[in-house]
Amino acid sequence: MPDIESLLKETRVFKPGKAFAKQANWSKKNVRELRKLGAKDPEKFWARMAKKNVTWFKPWKKTLDWKPPFAKWFVGAKTNVSYNCLDRHLEGKNAWRSNKAAIIWEGEPGDQRVLTYSQLHREVCKFANVLKGLGVTKGDRVALYMPMVPELAIAMLACTRIGAPHSIVFGGFSSESLRDRINDAGAKLVVTADGGYRRGEPLPLKPAVDEAITGCKSVENVVVVRRCENDVKWKKGRDHWWHDLMAEASADCPAAKLDSEHPLFILYTSGTTGKPKGILHTTGGYLTHVTTTAKAVFDLKDEDVYWCTADIGWITGHSYVVYGILANGATTLMYEGGPTTPGPDRFWDIIERHRVSIFYTAPTAIRTFIRLGDEHPQGHDLSSLRLLGSVGEPINPEAWIWYHEVIGGKRCPIVDTWWQTETGGIMITPLPGAVDTKPGSATLPFPGIAAEVVDEKAKKVKAPDGGFLALTKPWPGMLRGIWGDPKRYEETYWSKFGKFYFAGDGAHRDKDGNFWIMGRIDDVMNVSGHRIGTMEVESALVSHKDVAEAAVVGRPDEITGTAVVAFVSPRAGVEAGDPLVKELREHVAGEIGAFAKPAEIRFTDALPKTRSGKIMRRLLRDIASGNETVGDTTTLEDLSVLAKLRDEG
Ligand code: WT7
Repeated sequence: MPDIESLLKETRVFKPGKAFAKQANWSKKNVRELRKLGAKDPEKFWARMAKKNVTWFKPWKKTLDWKPPFAKWFVGAKTNVSYNCLDRHLEGKNAWRSNKAAIIWEGEPGDQRVLTYSQLHREVCKFANVLKGLGVTKGDRVALYMPMVPELAIAMLACTRIGAPHSIVFGGFSSESLRDRINDAGAKLVVTADGGYRRGEPLPLKPAVDEAITGCKSVENVVVVRRCENDVKWKKGRDHWWHDLMAEASADCPAAKLDSEHPLFILYTSGTTGKPKGILHTTGGYLTHVTTTAKAVFDLKDEDVYWCTADIGWITGHSYVVYGILANGATTLMYEGGPTTPGPDRFWDIIERHRVSIFYTAPTAIRTFIRLGDEHPQGHDLSSLRLLGSVGEPINPEAWIWYHEVIGGKRCPIVDTWWQTETGGIMITPLPGAVDTKPGSATLPFPGIAAEVVDEKAKKVKAPDGGFLALTKPWPGMLRGIWGDPKRYEETYWSKFGKFYFAGDGAHRDKDGNFWIMGRIDDVMNVSGHRIGTMEVESALVSHKDVAEAAVVGRPDEITGTAVVAFVSPRAGVEAGDPLVKELREHVAGEIGAFAKPAEIRFTDALPKTRSGKIMRRLLRDIASGNETVGDTTTLEDLSVLAKLRDEG
């Protein structure tokens, strides 16, 4: 990853193209006014957006109730997310959208399905009735552990329709992780599938559910989508096939009129302790935030085919594969599988065949494609593209330029969007028809969003300078807390600066006020745009019988941004060698999920510690990054000696 010096040498500026600016949803003039309003009176700004972009059953009495750090938005109002994503596109002047594609889905083997708004509405109503029939009522939590199939979007929208908060667990998580999340949320029902296709293979999911819920008290029923036709174990009375239940279900299910602050979903994310946090989002504010940003940042139009490559199991998929996109009545493309199956051009092939016009992906994917070679995108007609987006980690200027030239044909604006699971929606971003972009910078806060770079004492730094990224005013999509743990919510996000939200990222502001996000500054790693806590991997490692102690750090990696490096000190008498490396990597996969496997494991007799017993992570990071000469991966390193040498030097 480039450091701030090299980033700030980046002087190229890309102005919005004339033709693009002319047709943009948010023009330069518009943005100027909205920025002014958003800075002067953010509540008024968001109230205007809420009125314009969301349909309410009952208006609010108060826009914001802010008792730091607890916010309530659109107090007293009633709405429904499923209604906003579906029903309102079937009524009145929008009724023509009934037969418009809501979801264009492509499976990895090449099978395709298109669900129109009217069909999607029908499926959602039916599944909402299925949920009710299985005893799920308003406020009950439903866990979704599914592949990228339309049934996942259907299940989400069905949950929101009846006010049952969902907790989606990414299919790459292990049964252990799934169990923790089901228990923490107290989920009553689990929706899963027999499997999903990934890199040419059916990846089973049901066995992980079977394993996870043995001993789970809260789960009463499991609904299983048939996707791969593979054999599954069946527990009678508890397990039900999706298609059996749907065949019997009524398609009549009015959307519940829910309070603006009704819990919408819980999504678990990594932090600095071993236990993932259940980030809670609620209804009206979240919906306003994602609907407004999707329309403005992606310039969504009825004619667009919009494709976000994120898995719905992460926040990007929640907000910008499903909710923000469907709430705008747009067409969202969903792809089940891997980017290089069957060949390295799969993404470009999808763009060409479906005439994708807006493409939103992650820097790690872009870097992978750069390495695979230009001939793959160049072998396809990508002329349908008109806007590109990036999310998940800082994008290095080289990758930005490649994206702009090779994928965007120099004509597509790039929106580099900074946000988090906790923020619900996009926070710092260009507006494609109005904001000049610089490769590597997420540019400016969205109107109505207050972001600053501050020092240790929460004092704003004078640009150009760097420090901590802080959000200084509440925003509608902000997390409403950590499920079941208000204390941890206060400690994690509000104890560092008191009145400001601490994002956990370092950032720099240049002389024009643009933000350059530098990445995490806490013990959280960003691996391929996925958040992994160093502590989570450490606790997974020490739970193995052969491990006495472990310390985990991130090291810069050209493709994944950060790679996980583990320093392990084995128990006495254990042979530290390649077989143990292999075993430990599998062990981490089993405890957390395959995506958290350390790229490298190094054995050491002892971990370098300060006098007070704290592991010297900075030293380990240096060693992991190769700033220190050490032997190959499996040689025993006496790091305490190294630390000593260094201290003496
Ligand atoms: C962390 C949040 C929000 C979507 C995906 C990740 C990093 C995210 C950017 C960006 C630089 C970024 C930050 C942030 N991040 N977008 N455009 N530029 N860094 O969600 O798992 O909650 O992770 O991702 O470090 O704190 P998440």
